Amino acid sequence: MKVVSFLLGITFFTVSVYTEAGPPQTVVVDYSEIAHQAEVNKKNLLEFLNRTQVKELYKIKYKNLLDKLTGSTRRIVSGRNTSIAAVPWQVSIREKTYPVCGGSVVTDTWILTAAHCLLRAQAVDLSVRLGSSWKSHGGEMYDVKESYVHPRYVSGSKANDAGLIRLYSPLRFSPRVLPILLAARESRLPADQMAIVSGWGKLNEGGPGATFLQSASIKTMAMKLCRQSGLERKSIDPASMFCAGSFTQPSPDACQGDSGGPIVSEGELIGVVSWGLGCARGNFPGVYTRLSHTVIWDWIHGYITTKPDTNVTL
Ligand SMILES: *[C@@H]1O[C@H](CO)[C@@H](O)[C@H](O)[C@H]1NC(C)=O
Ligand SMILES: *[C@@H]1O[C@H](CO)[C@@H](O)[C@H](O)[C@H]1NC(C)=O
Repeated sequence: MKVVSFLLGITFFTVSVYTEAGPPQTVVVDYSEIAHQAEVNKKNLLEFLNRTQVKELYKIKYKNLLDKLTGSTRRIVSGRNTSIAAVPWQVSIREKTYPVCGGSVVTDTWILTAAHCLLRAQAVDLSVRLGSSWKSHGGEMYDVKESYVHPRYVSGSKANDAGLIRLYSPLRFSPRVLPILLAARESRLPADQMAIVSGWGKLNEGGPGATFLQSASIKTMAMKLCRQSGLERKSIDPASMFCAGSFTQPSPDACQGDSGGPIVSEGELIGVVSWGLGCARGNFPGVYTRLSHTVIWDWIHGYITTKPDTNVTL
């Protein structure tokens, strides 16, 4: 019934159809049921996200999106216009209002991104746009209270490329603004596993950035294979990085401007868009921060599991 009235709502308010559903052939997934529960369980959010039933729900939604991106043949296709409602943890990080990176909602006050996205900016210059499929309008803007770069981030190699942003005020969850569970500590990531990467980065190498959110399905790649790619072998740190993409051309890939954004598999956040060489060049897979790596996982959880200030009124 809920779904019916939601659809009827869209039919009647024709003006909002465009912003709600986006351009033609926009991929949509509905997270409204989970959003309601997440809002109710805000006080113990990480425990809520880690519940078996909740993980199942996220997995079902993920499969839903994957099917829409890959079609019945499961063949990898390039990026597609995707509603924020299909990847509601996706945010756009701005430096002095200019969009610089992607990020992911991990709790009601914490956004996870790449360390290299936070090196130059002061927290006061940063802001976050949430809940919009459009890069430069819609949704809500949030100010940033603090930003942190992983203490073991190495700028030369981009090892441990993780950064955290703390928002000034807690988020109100909705079907377009939702947290996502991080992959379990020390969990193994199999090769050739489907994953979804999203962002507003460049649509092709040297091309313009996307104005409407894009997502693409890609496959994780065995480290051995990744090291045989055109990427410099010694620049890949298997402990804190993994590769995804394929050797076929042109393969879907993350590109400039997607940095810091999410790569999700089986309904869990497995990585952060970190680096690559060019974009979607067949012989250079994308490289992602491995979130299950203890050095990264423990650092993130050290921050996001702390209780909010007692003087914060919700
Ligand atoms: C994707 O969205 C853009 C921006 O609105 C639009 O110009 C383009 O036609 C859309 N592409 C598809 C395949 O629907
Ligand atoms: C999630 O639950 C598992 C047990 O099912 C537990 O081992 C793990 O520590 C939990 N993770 C978090 C982040 O709470």
